[in-house]
Amino acid sequence: VASSVASDRVPDMGKRQLMNLLLLGAISLPTAGLLGPYLYFLVPPGSGGAGTGITAKDALGNDITLTGWLKTHQPGDRTLAQGLKGDPTYLVVENDGTLATYGINAVCTHLGCVVPFNNAENKFICPCHGSQYNNQGRVVRGPAPLSLALAHVDVVDDKVVFSPWSETDFRTGENPWWS
Ligand code: FES
Repeated sequence: VASSVASDRVPDMGKRQLMNLLLLGAISLPTAGLLGPYLYFLVPPGSGGAGTGITAKDALGNDITLTGWLKTHQPGDRTLAQGLKGDPTYLVVENDGTLATYGINAVCTHLGCVVPFNNAENKFICPCHGSQYNNQGRVVRGPAPLSLALAHVDVVDDKVVFSPWSETDFRTGENPWWS
């Protein structure tokens, strides 16, 4: 009897291992597919050169072109576009009517509210707890501890392109806290 039990078990174990392998495969294949894009985000900014840029999109999800933007946005304008990692990011039209080479990430450094630009005050004022940033996004009043993050803005074939800003923050002379 003992030997028949043992011989019954062997194929059972074999089947179970096969099932486990199949199950593992079913789980790990989609997982590998999900990990790909996730790992992509872990690549340090700047390591891919120009490849890390993304085209800025307007509120409707259309690519923003320099010509189109400057036709509809006056000097001094700060309007949100969709930026890196989907963060709402301001495009700035300088007083001379050119597009600034930096964009301002609108996510408040206090608790993450999107900060609107107040034209009358020429400042960004957070509606959540009253933090204020000057018109370049440098923090001038708490509780926000840090200035708004920056992104590079370039124009490639008339398209407006955001890319990560890893250099000195020109507003504070400090290393960027966000990179
Ligand atoms: Fe902006 Fe608190 S989230 S002040």
